[in-house]
Amino acid sequence: MKLFLTFVIFFSLIQISTIFAADFSYSGTTGPAFWGNFNETCLKGKNQSPIDIPYNEFIKFSKPDNVEFHDAHDVVIENKGHTIEISKNLDAKLKIKDNEYKLLQFHFHTPSEHRVNGRYYDVEAHFVFTDTKDNLSVIGVFYDVSDRRNRFFDPIIYNIPDENVKKTIEFIKLSSVIEDINWMNSTYNYFGSLTTPPCSEGVIWWVSYPVQPIGKNQYLKLRDAMGFNSRYTQVRNGE
Ligand SMILES: *[C@@H]1O[C@H](CO)[C@@H](O)[C@H](O)[C@H]1NC(C)=O
Ligand SMILES: *[C@@H]1O[C@H](CO)[C@@H](O)[C@H](O)[C@H]1NC(C)=O
Ligand SMILES: *[C@@H]1O[C@H](CO)[C@@H](O)[C@H](O)[C@H]1NC(C)=O
Ligand SMILES: [Zn+2]
Repeated sequence: MKLFLTFVIFFSLIQISTIFAADFSYSGTTGPAFWGNFNETCLKGKNQSPIDIPYNEFIKFSKPDNVEFHDAHDVVIENKGHTIEISKNLDAKLKIKDNEYKLLQFHFHTPSEHRVNGRYYDVEAHFVFTDTKDNLSVIGVFYDVSDRRNRFFDPIIYNIPDENVKKTIEFIKLSSVIEDINWMNSTYNYFGSLTTPPCSEGVIWWVSYPVQPIGKNQYLKLRDAMGFNSRYTQVRNGE
């Protein structure tokens, strides 16, 4: 009897702690509509991301003062459950005014988080940069399924690990990303937020257009590994 009670108490404690330690998700009571429970910025923030961008905004020219994307060796790929993330040994930089930002990691969303004139795309990649004061800047790149596979994705798709497992990728052609988006010559620049809790604001966004191709099988493998992981678009302050 005593042993039984100990068991009951033990399992009840586990249940309580898993409720409070629950990670955010994209559905149900830990989904985007409830992210305010993780950090109230998600609910009350005035400059939240993603947003729906009017197509005409891409015609205005704005880009960082300097952009560098070099190919990378021995990077780490991790399946975080809610996204596939590549980090470590990445060599890319942005210069924005007097601040230098370095590429920390990049990851993917299916479907895209940002939209253009209300339309979303099959995939959005987020290249997350940070400066020495922990300010963040993110480049968003859209991809749509195409007959043409995208070689940049090959080593990523081939090495997608099981959930919560990390692997090393020997070589990744990061330079092809910046060539494909014409060195950011057509980007929409705005101040927004992280698109996952804690939804911190002050993030300098560069959303790139036009849309890049991704092979159908590449897309399906990426989507199947991550599932739906796109926050709905946010209302902008003053709109
Ligand atoms: C960078 O961070 C510092 C300290 O948090 C802040 O004062 C500064 O305004 C930030 N700069 C940009 C460009 O966001
Ligand atoms: C992009 O813009 C730079 C100037 O910032 C220009 O030198 C370059 O030719 C442009 N590239 C393309 C592909 O449009
Ligand atoms: C919420 O996020 C902000 C940054 O946006 C941070 O300063 C604050 O500590 C966070 N609050 C909680 C309860 O985690
Ligand atoms: Zn993201």
